[in-house]
Amino acid sequence: MNFNTEYGSEFIRTEELDKIKKDALKNLTDLKQGVCKGNDFLGWTTLPNISKGEVSKIQEVANGLKQFETVVVIGIGGSYLGAKALIDLFTPYFDRSQTEVLFAGHHLDETYLSELIAYLKNKDFALIPISKSGTTLEPAIAFRFLLNLMIEQFGTSELQNRVVTITDKSKGALRQLTDEYQLRSFIVPDDVGGRFSVLSPVGLLPIAIAGVDIQALLQGAKEGMLEYLVLDENNPAIEYSAIRNYLYRNGFTTELMVYSNPKWNAFSEWWKQLFGESEGKGKQGIFPASINITTDLHSLGQYVQDGKRNLFETFIRFSKPSSDINVPNSQENYDKLNYLSGKSMYFINAKAEEGTIKAHTEGGVPVLEIEMDILSEKTVGKLIAFYEVSCAVSGLVLGVNPFDQPGVEAYKNNMFRLLGKI
Ligand code: PA5
Repeated sequence: MNFNTEYGSEFIRTEELDKIKKDALKNLTDLKQGVCKGNDFLGWTTLPNISKGEVSKIQEVANGLKQFETVVVIGIGGSYLGAKALIDLFTPYFDRSQTEVLFAGHHLDETYLSELIAYLKNKDFALIPISKSGTTLEPAIAFRFLLNLMIEQFGTSELQNRVVTITDKSKGALRQLTDEYQLRSFIVPDDVGGRFSVLSPVGLLPIAIAGVDIQALLQGAKEGMLEYLVLDENNPAIEYSAIRNYLYRNGFTTELMVYSNPKWNAFSEWWKQLFGESEGKGKQGIFPASINITTDLHSLGQYVQDGKRNLFETFIRFSKPSSDINVPNSQENYDKLNYLSGKSMYFINAKAEEGTIKAHTEGGVPVLEIEMDILSEKTVGKLIAFYEVSCAVSGLVLGVNPFDQPGVEAYKNNMFRLLGKI
């Protein structure tokens, strides 16, 4: 992976950036020594070192669950976004031959829930409820409905076969249920926060069911952690976290993740949670947003080009296509597209990206680039490590605890009061 700052450099004064880099290094040193803010939540740095035995156990349970037509993963926030991100990246758009992995409990929409229940009737399905606390309202409600349906359809004797829980090792409602029915279960480690849990069973089990290569993902993440936890000013994670803070201090308060393939939509949601929930504290923090080009160039493109100048962009780019297809020639050329005949879609998309970067830079938007060779489990594992380390360091440079989320309680308290719980 290559972190390229070429198009952002004209917006950056080197002396000021160098000072922030030193601060970033100091914060990474504290993190590695376990003396930074939120130091009881650093378990994510060692998740890729999971033992071979544990990986095999996850794969074995995943293989067993593949016998079902549909597996519903129930969770919200960090308990679903990572799995959704990786499944969308690595499963085909249209081929439905694999076990179908659906999500529930990530909102309170009554229509979704009732349509899902109707859809699952007479389907051979399994459930994976995921909740670290085991008490989050959205997944707990969805699980209550779906568990009822499962018992109605298959009886309680089938629960051991069809439900695998992922939760805290000793506390919470899900742990209680797991013990009561002797269900298979994986643990969310105490020292790993939800948004940093994608490389734990929280992410690994659902993605293994969808056929994602979890060994390669972990290998990439392991290499990434080694590379990005290094105390060196040229470490790309140090550079990225320092530049983000530099830009933020100079009025660029929104970061757009930019990608040119809709399979990244869910990944960008994972990234938004990672950075938004880690940094948005004490009335500070960069607002993480995303655009998918060229789709969003026809909607948000005008704003990015010419709206308020508080945006900077980080492009996700690949030097090789995952698959490709050439534009056919046309005898009639009614559409006047023959100037593209024989050109590949990857080439055309890459030129659209280049053109966009040039236009946005000229429009006053600093552009950073994360360039990877090819989309694979290994490269994405490495990217996850890059983002997690960068996010932790960036938050520490900002002066916040990147590992807590006290603000999430405010809506819950109001909601629970309105619903009569408290
Ligand atoms: O990152 C976080 O901690 C949160 O987004 C949680 O993942 C989310 O609130 C779900 O919590 P739980 O897994 O306890 O149900």
